[in-house]
Amino acid sequence: MYTIAIISQKGGTGKTTLALNLAVASERAGKPALVVDLDPQASAKAWHDHRTEKTPIVISAQASRLHEVLKTAEENGAALVILDTAPHSESSALAAARAADLILIPCRPGVLDIRAIATSADLVQLAKKQAVAVLNAIPPQGHLPDEAGEAIKSFGLAVSPVRITNRAAFVHSLTASTGVSEYEPDGKAADEIKQLYKWTLSQMNVLTRQQNKKEALAS
Ligand SMILES: Nc1ncnc2c1ncn2[C@@H]1O[C@H](COP(=O)(O)OP(=O)(O)OP(=O)(O)O)[C@@H](O)[C@H]1O
Ligand SMILES: [Mg+2]
Repeated sequence: MYTIAIISQKGGTGKTTLALNLAVASERAGKPALVVDLDPQASAKAWHDHRTEKTPIVISAQASRLHEVLKTAEENGAALVILDTAPHSESSALAAARAADLILIPCRPGVLDIRAIATSADLVQLAKKQAVAVLNAIPPQGHLPDEAGEAIKSFGLAVSPVRITNRAAFVHSLTASTGVSEYEPDGKAADEIKQLYKWTLSQMNVLTRQQNKKEALAS
């Protein structure tokens, strides 16, 4: 079982959007996913409550219960757990970051978003975990995403090669309590999420190989 924490101390960057869409992508790939909604606003949980499909499962939890929640998820056969966190809540985001194999930090390409990423970068350092920024809601054309990517790297963060464009399908699918790959399976948004899911999985496989190597050397 892999655990991904999606954090950003800034509000509205796309944490919940990416958490739910990656979970749907995982289910579609035959890997049962659980989303743990650590945000008291409970937007991810509300998405699930209004949905006809029961999977991916979404539960609300408090950060202090994460250890038990992850243990139960593993016992129940979850292949992927995604921790959706609240903005402006350092202790909860830090607990999620520490529990994760990989941290994703969605970031819009605006200057205020990029400045705000410094707080998330500090938090990731405290957690001592691999973290990658994901440019989200980028304009379909222009150099802004490239410039934003360079600016994010200056905070010492890696940037995902997969970027998510600003598309109406992301808004409409959330309203319909679906993922973009259910809402518009052949659409561009669905394709971007598929790419992000694949890339994220490949990153976690790399982390597992590194961990196995370390363990082999230590034994
Ligand atoms: N790629 C995108 N294209 C278009 N709209 C998007 C995209 N990503 C997110 N949005 C929209 O932006 C808004 C904020 O997204 P979301 O709720 O996922 O952010 P968040 O980081 O979870 O917010 P919060 O910090 O409040 O929890 C939502 O209305 C969502 O539909
Ligand atoms: Mg959210």
